[in-house]
Amino acid sequence: MKNRILLSLGMVGMIAVSSAFGADVGSKLDQQLCSVCHGRGGTTSSELFPQLAGEPAQYLINQMKGFRDKSRADENAKRFMWGISSRLSDDDIQQLATFYEAQPPVHKGKISDQVKYDAGKNIFLNGLAEKNVPPCMACHGEKGEGKEATPRLGGQHEAYLKRQLKVFYSNDRPAATAMHEVVKGLAEKDVEAIAQYLQAQ
Ligand code: HEC
Ligand code: HEC
Repeated sequence: MKNRILLSLGMVGMIAVSSAFGADVGSKLDQQLCSVCHGRGGTTSSELFPQLAGEPAQYLINQMKGFRDKSRADENAKRFMWGISSRLSDDDIQQLATFYEAQPPVHKGKISDQVKYDAGKNIFLNGLAEKNVPPCMACHGEKGEGKEATPRLGGQHEAYLKRQLKVFYSNDRPAATAMHEVVKGLAEKDVEAIAQYLQAQ
């Protein structure tokens, strides 16, 4: 009797382990490790945590590896992402990236200031020629959809976008070489306007 109970407990254990390596590994890791901050499926209403849903997989892989090797080193990266990313294998990272890329992106932002929105849209689509700021859409897509190693920006939290644009004035994201040049010509009010435009896409 005792043996039979042990045997069936052993089988339950095996089932749990084998399903953890199935096709939905990304979904399981999301639930177990990430959703507490980023929300289930990488969608959260908290401004502190970036939306991950619909981000291109290659971009996500690059960022997770950047946290893990501690090269992405802005304050919140250190505080929130260095620890957890050290527990992820290359395969976990791949599975998570594939999972989040396939989740529908958020479109919940509303225009709260039309003048700011229009100014932000203008910079995003046309750049600021007199200040050598290229059109953002050339890399990020017209509505900030993102592609490959270039992130989705459309639907991202306003506060997160503003914080990251400020990070690019420092060298805390050394992999973002294009962005270090781009932000040189942006004033504080431009950053505010661009973030207002993007959160509402
Ligand atoms: C304790 C809260 C917390 C947990 C748990 C957490 N994150 Fe994060 N994550 C953050 C914060 C805060 C940021 C923003 C960091 C910054 O500002 O640089 C972030 C940023 C990210 C980014 C960069 C997004 C971008 O647009 O550049 C990715 C990718 C990411 N997290 C993936 C994950 C994954 C995958 C997990 C689970 C394995 C996870 N996070 C768990 C808080 C968390
Ligand atoms: C030459 C291509 C290029 C141009 C032009 C460009 N970007 Fe980027 N941007 C990138 C790449 C690539 C990254 C990812 C960098 C990394 O891997 O850390 C990025 C990252 C970002 C991020 C960080 C997103 C996140 O989730 O953390 C923001 C915000 C951003 N860009 C905004 C802009 C804005 C606003 C403009 C126009 C003023 C712009 N970009 C123009 C290529 C570009």
